[in-house]
Amino acid sequence: MADTLLVIHTIDEMRREVAAARSRGLTVGFVPTMGALHAGHAALVRQAVEECGFVVVSIFVNPLQFGPNEDYERYPRTLDQDVALLREVGAHVVFAPSVNEMYPRPQLTFVEVEKVTEGLCGASRPGHFRGVATVVTKLFNIVTPDVAYFGQKDAQQAAVIRTMVRDLSMPVEIRVCPTVREEDGLAVSSRNTYLSPEERKAATVLYRALGHGKALIESGERDAARVRGAMRELIESEPLARVDYCEVVDAESLAPVSYIEGNVLLAVAAYFGSTRLIDNMAVEA
Ligand code: PAJ
Repeated sequence: MADTLLVIHTIDEMRREVAAARSRGLTVGFVPTMGALHAGHAALVRQAVEECGFVVVSIFVNPLQFGPNEDYERYPRTLDQDVALLREVGAHVVFAPSVNEMYPRPQLTFVEVEKVTEGLCGASRPGHFRGVATVVTKLFNIVTPDVAYFGQKDAQQAAVIRTMVRDLSMPVEIRVCPTVREEDGLAVSSRNTYLSPEERKAATVLYRALGHGKALIESGERDAARVRGAMRELIESEPLARVDYCEVVDAESLAPVSYIEGNVLLAVAAYFGSTRLIDNMAVEA
């Protein structure tokens, strides 16, 4: 597998390679990413390699999904390292288009998913999920995967993609893989590289808050406001953290709940300096 990794920059060439793989009878697996690859991405690609004969990983920092004051410009771009990691994990193609290749003229067409985009990151990042749904649709149209892989780390994104695929009858199966964490519990993220050593230590408070919320529910707490409050208090006890949101939502609809029953998702977002991190944990009551 080692030297068969192909790096492709154009849509035409990507289409040709997928057509060739299909004509050989291979199942096409797809892992969309923005690069700066880490152990979380690697886990998705490994899963894809296990299940599919032809695995495409896209690397594209999508300007459409960043707000005007967000980190589009400073988002880490590490293509050479990413290619080395993907070679090791056994992917077959890296699709790394330029912004001009993806958006050669002003984009006039967008994919808008309602309801599941209302709360959590959708509320803090207006337009973000419209940018995600639009680029993922475009990538699906280019790569035409049989199976596409997403991380539970971005639970709302996974819900948006599932909803979009179902509502628009897209012929692709969506797999969601568990969150990969550092040893101290911090969810692995490309944005962790922004953190100072002090902020990096403080950032573990997110995982601790989720664990605390989960423990409360497991010990019988059913009042979501109390669980939210307890998680928020824990995050606020960390001086370097500034809470963005701290929620208990229904695991399916992502709507806030007041009484906890069935499957819920604990979801948090906080700033450490200018770096915004998110995390979540599923709990069954
Ligand atoms: P990116 O942040 O690069 O993430 C790519 C995929 O990796 C996403 O499905 C994300 O949920 C998953 N991932 C990230 N960290 C993870 C972790 N610690 N454990 C498991 N999976 C993890 O998400 C995006 O890019 C973009 O929005 C994209 C879907 C590519 C559209 O531009």
